[in-house]
Amino acid sequence: MKSVVAWLKEVRVNAKSVGALFPSMPAVGKKIRKHIKNDGKPKAILELGAGDGAVTAQIVQVLKPGDRLELVEINPSFCEVLEKRIRGEWASYLKGVDVIVHSTGLENCQFHRRFDVVISGLPLINFGSDQVQEIYFQFQRLVCDGGQLLSFEYACSRRLKKMLGQVTGNRDLVKTCSLIEEFHQKNQVGWDPVLLNIPPMKVRRFFLGATNVKDESDSQTVSDCDAEQPELDAGKTCS
Ligand SMILES: C[S@@+](CC[C@H](N)C(=O)[O-])C[C@H]1O[C@@H](n2cnc3c(N)ncnc32)[C@H](O)[C@@H]1O
Repeated sequence: MKSVVAWLKEVRVNAKSVGALFPSMPAVGKKIRKHIKNDGKPKAILELGAGDGAVTAQIVQVLKPGDRLELVEINPSFCEVLEKRIRGEWASYLKGVDVIVHSTGLENCQFHRRFDVVISGLPLINFGSDQVQEIYFQFQRLVCDGGQLLSFEYACSRRLKKMLGQVTGNRDLVKTCSLIEEFHQKNQVGWDPVLLNIPPMKVRRFFLGATNVKDESDSQTVSDCDAEQPELDAGKTCS
């Protein structure tokens, strides 16, 4: 209850960037984590827009020593909650796991590696079309060959927003919606409904890059990523 009140406080001040009336319910994270393979090899996971950790709380349960988890969250209050949960209630799941919280916007982050799984809870529908284009470019660079992008959004919200954009003449909103639709058409390999959420969600799954569609079974590991792909922007990280 305390966490919902804290969430609503952030929604009141930062409605557009928080992008959801409530944090996701556990069913969303559970649906996401079933797509994270546990083949015994170390994996690197990046979660964008982690909020106060509603999805993270499910993901940490499938991590093993040697794995890596990076969280990106723009809201400093949510980052404080994440840090607290990492040190407290999640500590037993995170033994031997490398964890980094990037307390800033994705647009300010520079990563030193690619990831086997990128999870996005970013409210893209609330972003300008230029920002969405830039984020899609980032997604392509951040996911390993053989890796996957998992994202979630409210069912039907985009269709309604697009109609609103058309009616009000908000051309950039219509463009944002069209960019999202194009990305889905081009890269999506499947989606799951999550009815146990208010409102219901869709968890979407994407394979990015030509080698990804070849064979799901040869998904690459942390070390494969290091070996076959150059490091990304070897500058400072933003945490
Ligand atoms: C829809 S909420 C999802 C939160 C959480 N993952 C959940 O499912 O409950 C979107 C989150 O993205 C964060 N966010 C918005 N813009 C961002 C950006 N540019 N970079 C990183 N995080 C951002 C918001 O602060 C918010 O916590």
